[in-house]
Amino acid sequence: MTIAWDNRFSVDHSTIDAEHKTLLIIINSIEMALRHPDDKETLLYFVNLLYEMAIDHFRYEEELQTKHAYPHIDSNSEGHKHLIIELNRIIDEIRIIAKKPIIDTDDVLQLRKYVSFLANGWLLAHVIQEDLKMKGFIAGKY
Ligand SMILES: [Fe+2]
Repeated sequence: MTIAWDNRFSVDHSTIDAEHKTLLIIINSIEMALRHPDDKETLLYFVNLLYEMAIDHFRYEEELQTKHAYPHIDSNSEGHKHLIIELNRIIDEIRIIAKKPIIDTDDVLQLRKYVSFLANGWLLAHVIQEDLKMKGFIAGKY
């Protein structure tokens, strides 16, 4: 099931919110790609896009936080490192399944679990647990 953007995810910063929305849209696109599991090219396209976008997004946040001396920058950048490790682990698992000549229903179920984790345990945990701490501090700072 895809996840809709909700204003309670907003950190009141147009660029960061736009990037979080993009990450959510990419994860939703991965979920939609799983509706056609034989189309591995589309699945892997969005998985690779998620990785590139996540790296760019974390870099942008850290540069912005450094520029404005954000007080939680250390815990935030530690969090990003952990998120990248988790993302790499999940992407590796998705690639292993995608290499199989035939994707069966168990594989699709497993892939759906990974995508659900990416949406809820990975992205929303990042936004809600870490980035919302920036709300108020980062507004109007570019
Ligand atoms: Fe973020």
